[in-house]
Amino acid sequence: MTTKILEVNDLRVHFRLGGFWGKRAVIRAVDGISFFVNEGETLGVAGETGSGKSTIAKVLVGLYKPTSGTVKLMGEVINFRDGNSVAKLRENVGIVFQDPTSSLNPRLKVREIIREALVAAGVERSLHEERIRHIVPLVGLRPSVLDAYPRQLSGGEKQRVSLARALVVPKKLLILDEPTSSLDVSVQAQVLNTLKELKKELKLSYLFISHDLNVLKYMSTRILVLFYGKMVEIGSARKIVTEPKHPYTQELVSNLLDSPQPLSERLVMEHQPSFTGCVYSRICPFVMEECRTTHPPFYKVSDDQFVACHLFKKFPKAFDF
Ligand SMILES: Nc1ncnc2c1ncn2[C@@H]1O[C@H](COP(=O)(O)OP(=O)(O)OP(=O)(O)O)[C@@H](O)[C@H]1O
Ligand SMILES: [Mg+2]
Repeated sequence: MTTKILEVNDLRVHFRLGGFWGKRAVIRAVDGISFFVNEGETLGVAGETGSGKSTIAKVLVGLYKPTSGTVKLMGEVINFRDGNSVAKLRENVGIVFQDPTSSLNPRLKVREIIREALVAAGVERSLHEERIRHIVPLVGLRPSVLDAYPRQLSGGEKQRVSLARALVVPKKLLILDEPTSSLDVSVQAQVLNTLKELKKELKLSYLFISHDLNVLKYMSTRILVLFYGKMVEIGSARKIVTEPKHPYTQELVSNLLDSPQPLSERLVMEHQPSFTGCVYSRICPFVMEECRTTHPPFYKVSDDQFVACHLFKKFPKAFDF
């Protein structure tokens, strides 16, 4: 039986910004997202800039509080108002950010950077060196880097240090927020392969966020597609890439096939969302009247593909995807 490590239900994260004359703007960064991550799987998250990918990641490591919705970790609901409950989230969920240069303290040697995670988790000092020496080769680093400062390392090595810091205290779920987009293509491939090996070796599950559908296809079991805070499609990586159903996913995939420029540049498309009806209705080539008034529910197109689009309303409505 598959075990769900993480279950997210109707998650909303709205930011209220100060405004003029008493009017306050609200950014609906994440607006009604539901998904789960099975033990041992990689759920890919795709979406252009500003679609809410990092906001979801930050909720899942306790950096942001949700406006509403629930997050369950290994079957237990996380109470974001309770420090102990959030501590449980942080204990079990690790994160690696896009830019290793800004996330590593330049004044500390690598050994101390990794040690900080052990100190934060309250691991006894006498165990630190053994834990550090165990994780370093697993992430593909030589032990000599422990005495180096981040500036003496390459981009790929720095990202491996971020991985070591995230995993030196064992985790159930690792969130990778664009972990290779700042790296050269050849280094990117090596780090992706290390991530695949680590997942097996440490029995991890991944939530893998990327602009790059090629990377997501290579890494993911399933892929979730976001558009301005809304989920528009979710399904097996193969279905999403070879038979995309939502007009937005189709656009992403056709860009992947047609354009010679790197996808990471192409996906920064910055479309205008619609604030009424379907979030994609303003630009959708297949827009119908109801798209302008109601955001569609999810329809089950097949056992491993679900799409939020009125074009698919002849299929059954789906609640568990
Ligand atoms: N702390 C915050 N306060 C106000 N607005 C925020 C905050 N954090 C994120 N946002 C807004 O929420 C939206 C989603 O941002 P988010 O960083 O999650 O997008 P993203 O999909 O990760 O984008 P990128 O691909 O550029 O990393 C954006 O409009 C962003 O400006
Ligand atoms: Mg982001």
